[in-house]
Amino acid sequence: MNAPRNPRTFHVKSFGCQMNVYDGERMAELMAAQGLTATADADAADLVVLNTCHIREKATEKVYSDIGRIRKQARETRGGEPMIAIAGCVAQAEGEEIVKRARVDVVVGPQAYHNLPELVGRAARGEAALDTDMPAASKFGALPSRRKVGPSAFLTVQEGCDKFCTYCVVPYTRGAEVSRPWQAIIDEAKALVDAGAREITLLGQNVNAWDDDGRGLHDLIAALDRIEGLARIRYTTSHPNDMREGLIRAHAEVEKLMPFLHLPVQSGSGRILKAMNRSHSRDSYLRLLDRVRAARPDIALSGDFIVGFPGETEAEFAETLSLVDQVGYAQAFSFKYSPRPGTPAAAMDGFVPAEAMDDRLQRLQAALNRDQAAFNAATVGRTCELLLERPGKLPGQLIGKSPWLQSVHLVSEARIGDLIEVEIVEAGPNSLAGEVLRRAAA
Ligand code: 5AD
Ligand code: SF4
Repeated sequence: MNAPRNPRTFHVKSFGCQMNVYDGERMAELMAAQGLTATADADAADLVVLNTCHIREKATEKVYSDIGRIRKQARETRGGEPMIAIAGCVAQAEGEEIVKRARVDVVVGPQAYHNLPELVGRAARGEAALDTDMPAASKFGALPSRRKVGPSAFLTVQEGCDKFCTYCVVPYTRGAEVSRPWQAIIDEAKALVDAGAREITLLGQNVNAWDDDGRGLHDLIAALDRIEGLARIRYTTSHPNDMREGLIRAHAEVEKLMPFLHLPVQSGSGRILKAMNRSHSRDSYLRLLDRVRAARPDIALSGDFIVGFPGETEAEFAETLSLVDQVGYAQAFSFKYSPRPGTPAAAMDGFVPAEAMDDRLQRLQAALNRDQAAFNAATVGRTCELLLERPGKLPGQLIGKSPWLQSVHLVSEARIGDLIEVEIVEAGPNSLAGEVLRRAAA
């Protein structure tokens, strides 16, 4: 290994979910607090952190090929290899195996990354540097406070999962459900707002299971609602079984809570839902959505779907299509089932052939795209507030988010971070165009 002894520059690359993006940001802040400089160019960095995802497809193989590519590129462009740290869920699942197979310098699991500086120090001295512990004390207390963030920021409030859906690796890589304490979250939210955030998205694998001594997510949302300077609150991902009355009511009562709900269902077939160990039925899910819509009629609904779960028949897949027709999602994610080593479903019979899997995914995505386009088209002519998040491709163009999480582009003199009132004038399948009506009060 010819890794630089003490890295001076670093690059963090995050894959997968928003919680990984959040973890990647916190790792970057941690390394910056140690005096290292972030670089946008992975080829130029002394330390490359790959913050990996293990949820679907050939995640592990992809990590190994990424490591090879990064090394080769660095050798060609600067004549040496960077120090490589593997973080995230592949690190947790593979552990020592990655060191053996790819000679990486550091392996750190999602619950141990507060130890990253120490591990990097060990690696720089040529010592073994692996930490996949899931300690009882939370890593969050050991992280530096938030400094510089964009207008829309993530805040992890809950991690892990006790639901054990039979296809899912998360309970094994992220551990049991743990809620961060109330005050730590409020402090971090205030720090984010002081650092420039106007919108906070509360994150958790089961964010709506968040709890602190009887206080639930809706209480937390009510407290965030009182933070001056914070304009918008979102949360994701929710589990249907943790969707309590208080949270549904918050959608009717809390103005800052945006009209958007990501509530994965995975399948429309009762038999498949049972085999997935989802602990909700098709009917209980649909009844829940009725209550949410009664509280907030304009709410944009989003979901996750898996096609080709072991044993899924064509008729059972058709039940997923009919559920989609019934709900009318504003957007959704859909995936082909991928066996995760060590999960119960990976040992189930009834493997669905690749062609059927592809065909089902295509038909599901066609239905979801149709509904997304219809939802977007229905907002044309509406007036809403946009939070401006980034510049667009054309000169003077800005891109902001509508309350329903749609990307809207427009030409305006306003600045990133401003809230402006616009009329939606045009809708495509993935983005909309708006015209400025006026600037909202800061
Ligand atoms: N195969 C395919 N999709 C999966 N997901 C989770 N595990 C698997 C798997 N083994 C999907 C689910 C989940 C989303 C984050 O990823 O839809 O909600
Ligand atoms: Fe995975 Fe199910 Fe937990 Fe979601 S609820 S993280 S799909 S086990």
